[in-house]
Amino acid sequence: MTQPSLSPNSVPTHVAVIMDGNGRWARSRGLERIEGHWQGYRTLKRIVYAADDLGVRYLTVYGFSSENWRRPEGEVSGLMSLMAAAMRAEIEELVQNGIRVRVIGRIPDLPPDLQREFEIAMERTRHYTGMTFSLAINYGGRAEITDAVRRIAEAVRDGQIDVGDINEAEIARRLYAPDIPDPDLLIRTAGELRLSNFLLWQSAYAEMWVTPVFWPDFTPELLMEALEAFGKRTRRFGAVVE
Ligand code: FPP
Repeated sequence: MTQPSLSPNSVPTHVAVIMDGNGRWARSRGLERIEGHWQGYRTLKRIVYAADDLGVRYLTVYGFSSENWRRPEGEVSGLMSLMAAAMRAEIEELVQNGIRVRVIGRIPDLPPDLQREFEIAMERTRHYTGMTFSLAINYGGRAEITDAVRRIAEAVRDGQIDVGDINEAEIARRLYAPDIPDPDLLIRTAGELRLSNFLLWQSAYAEMWVTPVFWPDFTPELLMEALEAFGKRTRRFGAVVE
């Protein structure tokens, strides 16, 4: 990729992406929905390296939500196979590029072979200091907060913390990846204007950028467009900026 000309404040530390529109992309071409997911995977690969080239430090993508189990069984099993095959196929290149892989979500509920691919990828890249690429799989923002609340209840029960000491920091440090900073920019493709249970806690102050383009047609140029738009935003975090 040619060296992009973005001003330094246009590069968010953490970009999160809701990769929507695979199904519609496929249907509009008379293809099965799973074909859209395969094309979405090819797009994801390009975007991972484009984000890395642009200097993004954390990229988190919504691969499978805790609600996606409601889809037809063939699509669900197709997605599980796709993700396992993708991890197997991509790990060497991720390693060569020093990219750290993380997976967030209720991982024990996933098929064992997929869990294993994720464990291998996380283990092989755990000490890497390049971009952190996180996959949200069987992920739900409410489930994540619920899991954190459960852990706090256990800590109170075990006498580790007092009820009066529960604060935002205590909740945040019990989320799935507490060491990863909150997303600065949240990109959503395929035009819907909603969060769909993605990073609910962490996105409190994320800037949103939505494009009508379906995920399989998303490009590094559109990523740059999103970053340029981000660079022009004034982030107030609830305060007044004169
Ligand atoms: C949303 O489109 C997309 C998904 C639920 C799956 C995203 C998965 C990929 C892009 C494959 C990625 C591979 C890895 C390794 C994570 P949709 O099916 O909801 O589209 P629609 O709204 O048009 O129906």
